[in-house]
Amino acid sequence: MVVAEIEAAQTHDLRRRVLRDGRSENLAFPEDDRPGAFHLGVRQTPAGPLLAVASFSPEETPYRPGRSAVRLRGMATEGACQGRGIGRRLVEEATRRLRTDGFEVLWANGRDGALGFYRRLGFEIVGDGFLAGPDGDIPHHVVLLDL
Ligand SMILES: CC(C)(COP(=O)(O)OP(=O)(O)OC[C@H]1O[C@@H](n2cnc3c(N)ncnc32)[C@H](O)[C@@H]1OP(=O)(O)O)[C@@H](O)C(=O)NCCC(=O)NCCS
Repeated sequence: MVVAEIEAAQTHDLRRRVLRDGRSENLAFPEDDRPGAFHLGVRQTPAGPLLAVASFSPEETPYRPGRSAVRLRGMATEGACQGRGIGRRLVEEATRRLRTDGFEVLWANGRDGALGFYRRLGFEIVGDGFLAGPDGDIPHHVVLLDL
């Protein structure tokens, strides 16, 4: 597996299919082009198709006031490839890079259906549940990893 930095637009196909049920609305996030934002993709081989994507942008969280924090958005692994360690590989590469850059916290609004994934990677689940997502109806919790 190869983890590489990709352009924001290269995340859209997996965002649409995995996170938007095939719909093309809200594929671009306002955070995508923030200073310091970056996007990672995982491929089986350097020229192969993207199997997982996620996006990272500096943003503080009230759960760790004053700490330099990065928000993870758009975590998506190709449906047929889920459960093979690809998402883990991507997040571990991101945390390695963020630690090197001196960031202290990685956090996300995690869908409740994915909380087990974040827990396995060492994230804590903090605060009360809330509804979010493109139609505002998907249960979420904040998940947070002290780097
Ligand atoms: C959640 C998601 C990104 C995980 O990616 P993945 O590539 O399937 O995850 P991995 O195979 O790397 O899993 C890593 C670990 O988490 C566990 N895990 C993965 N998804 C899980 C889930 N939904 N519930 C419980 N555990 C889960 C795996 O068993 C594995 O455990 P291990 O390393 O101890 O064996 C992927 O399933 C996905 O795209 N889901 C649909 C979209 C989604 O919900 N995205 C997250 C939005 S916040």
